[in-house]
Amino acid sequence: MNLRFDGRTAVVTGAATGIGYAIAEALAESGATVIVADIDLSGASEAAASLGNGALAVKVDVARHEEVEAMVAFAVEHTGRLDMLVNNAGIAGPMQPLSEYSIEDWHKVLDVNLHGVFYGMRYAVPVMRENGGGAIVNMASILGSVGFVDASAYVTSKHAVLGISKAAALEYAADGIRVNSVGPGFIGTELVKNSLDEATRAEMASAHALNRMGETAEVASLVVYLLSDQAGFITGSYHVVDGGYTAR
Ligand code: NAI
Repeated sequence: MNLRFDGRTAVVTGAATGIGYAIAEALAESGATVIVADIDLSGASEAAASLGNGALAVKVDVARHEEVEAMVAFAVEHTGRLDMLVNNAGIAGPMQPLSEYSIEDWHKVLDVNLHGVFYGMRYAVPVMRENGGGAIVNMASILGSVGFVDASAYVTSKHAVLGISKAAALEYAADGIRVNSVGPGFIGTELVKNSLDEATRAEMASAHALNRMGETAEVASLVVYLLSDQAGFITGSYHVVDGGYTAR
């Protein structure tokens, strides 16, 4: 399979660490110029330096539309194009029952996990249309299709990511822009370590048919495939990489 992206530019949000970094790494290894976009600029700069292949860092809070607009402008200004966007940045939010969920935290989770995805596509699509096409992957979760106790804001935001991905896919198919969403099972990143205690993490590992959590590189493989020309007939769909979690 030809999974090369030479001469193409990819913006990956939340790419300083975790799943986003693994995606950025796989794209850079496959020839893409990667824009490492993250709220943590020093982490993004370190990541870009270790990726090489012309990778650049830019600071963005995806919850702020003006910063997302500037992120897209940065990619165009420095590389002259934008071919791929991975809206990966996301937060777990506190684990609280719905009736006790703070209004502020609710909005924060939706602002990052959903509105950030909207802003990314809102500003990237016009550039891709001018380029003659592009590919977008929006990071959902298995919790984009099933529920999880004490995570109502996160579950809601991830279900919405599936919806906005389908809507965008239909609107821009004629422009050669493909849009898909990805649903990882539990992956052992900081997000999971910070939001679940050790006992819950062990329990979560056994909830996957493969009896373990996933690796960031296993998510990156799927994302890179969906971004590639090999996936030219795939748009508007949701793809899990979940070790059998949702098969039960
Ligand atoms: P992580 O917490 O390890 O890394 C997230 C990255 O996003 C960090 O570099 C952080 O600085 C950045 N970030 C956070 N808020 C941001 C903002 N407002 N603007 C820009 N950057 C921001 O998270 P992880 O686990 O790598 O998750 C990445 C994505 O994958 C998220 O959307 C998450 O919901 C999703 N996901 C994660 C799973 C897991 O088990 N780790 C499972 C399913 C989905």
